[in-house]
Amino acid sequence: MEKLIINGASSLNGEVIISGAKNSSLPILAATILAEGTYNIDNIPALRDINTMFKLLENVGVTSSFQNNSAVIDNTGTNVYEAPYELVKTMRASIVLLGPLLAKKGKAKVSLPGGCAIGERPVDLHIAALEKMGANIEVKDGYIFAECPRLQGVEIVFDKVTVTGTENIMMAAALANGTTILKNAAQEPEVVDLADFLRKMGADIEGDGTNTITIKGKDKLHSANHSIMPDRIEAGTFLCAVAGVGGDITLKKCPVHTMDAIIEKLRLAGLEINVIDDETINAKMHGQIKAVDVKTAPYPAFPTDMQAQFMAVMLKSNGVSVINESIFENRFMHVPEFKRMGADITLNDSNAVVKGVPSFSGAPVMASDLRASAGLVIAALMAEHGSSVHRIYHLDRGYEGFEVKLNKLGANIERVKDNE
Ligand code: EPZ
Repeated sequence: MEKLIINGASSLNGEVIISGAKNSSLPILAATILAEGTYNIDNIPALRDINTMFKLLENVGVTSSFQNNSAVIDNTGTNVYEAPYELVKTMRASIVLLGPLLAKKGKAKVSLPGGCAIGERPVDLHIAALEKMGANIEVKDGYIFAECPRLQGVEIVFDKVTVTGTENIMMAAALANGTTILKNAAQEPEVVDLADFLRKMGADIEGDGTNTITIKGKDKLHSANHSIMPDRIEAGTFLCAVAGVGGDITLKKCPVHTMDAIIEKLRLAGLEINVIDDETINAKMHGQIKAVDVKTAPYPAFPTDMQAQFMAVMLKSNGVSVINESIFENRFMHVPEFKRMGADITLNDSNAVVKGVPSFSGAPVMASDLRASAGLVIAALMAEHGSSVHRIYHLDRGYEGFEVKLNKLGANIERVKDNE
C-alpha cells in the first residue's frame, strides 16, 4: 500500500490539463459489447477502475490494447456472458455490463456489486426496468442471472434518479424490439456522452440530457470511434484546491458547460472564476474563504461527487456552512478525518454543519472512498504543517496522477510505501 506525505502549500499556480472522465469511460467501454468490430476510443484516463473494466471485457470476448490514454478495442463476439465476483467486487460500476450483455447475448450473469463505503448501493431499479422489458431475472448466490432472447421496448419511470441505471437501460434498449421511454432519467453529462457514442454505433436515441430519454431499438449496431469527455469532477476538485489554498490556476481541456453548479458555489465562496473559452477556466483565490451552504442532488444541481472536496474548502471559511448530502446515506466518512486535523464539524442526519476555523494542523488521515480521499488531500494542503493520507488506492481509482499534477502547481507531495 502507499501513502501521500503532504506539506501545507502556500499557494497553487500554473496550468493543469484535465483528464478524460472515469464515469463516462466505464459505460462507454461496456457499450462495446453491443456490436462486433473494432473501436478506437481516446482520452480514457489511466485508472485502476479502467483496468478492471478492460479485464471484465476480456472475460466476455472483448479484447483491448490501451496506451497513452487511447484504446483499440476488438469485439470478436463470443457467447461468454459472465462478469465474475473477483473482478466486480473491486468496482461497483461493473453493473453497467448487465444491460449490454443481456441485450447482445440474450443472457447475463453479473455478480452483485455489493455495497461500498458510501452506502449500500442497491441495483433494484436496474433489475426492475429489465424485468419490465421482458427479462427473466433471478438473484441468487450473490449473482444476477438474467435471460431474454430479445428485450421489448417499454415505458419506464425510475423511482429515483440513477446514473448507471439510466445508462444500463439506455444500452439495453438500443437493441430492444420497439421503443423504450425512460422517465425520471439521469441528466448527467456522462449519460449524454454515452448517448453520443451509441448514436455513432447506429443507435436511435433522443432526449439524453433531459429527464425523458426515448430509444428506438435496432436489430444491429456497429463499432465506432469516440473521444471521452473531460472529467468535470476532477476539474471541480482542482478548483476546490486553489479555493482552499489560494493562488492562480488555469484548467485546460475542462468541460466548462457541465460545471455551472460547481462554479456558482465556488464563486460565492470567493473564488474568482473566469471562463476563457468552452474548455478553459482561470481561477484566482486571494483572501478569506466565505461560508456557503450546499445541497447535493442529481445533475444539474451540485454533484455528490464534489461534496467532500467542497467541505474541505469550508473548513477555513469565515462562518458556518451547512452541507446536505441527499444522494448517499453514508458519505461523510471524511468528517472524522477532517476533525482529527482540527476542523469544527457537527453531523446531524444528512447535514454536516462546518464552522470555519482560522487554521488547523496536519495529521495522519485515512482515505475511505474515492472523492473523500481528494477532499483529504485538499485539507492537507490547507493545513499548517505535514499530513499523511493513507490507503490512497481509493484516490488512484478516480484521479490520474493527482499528486503529480498538484506538484506541478507548486504543491509538495510525496508518494511513499506505506507499511501500515
Ligand atoms: C454514479 O453512481 C457514479 N458512478 C457515482 O460516482 C456518483 O456518485 C453517482 O452516480 C451519483 O451521481 C458512476 O457513474 C460509475 P446512482 P451510481 O445509481 O450510478 C440509489 C465516483 O466517485 N439507487 O445514481 O451507482 C443509490 O443508492 C462514483 O466516481 C437505488 O436505490 O449512483 C443512491 O442513493 C461514486 N437503486 C441513488 O439512487 C438502484 O437500483 C443514486 O445512485 C440504483 C440507485
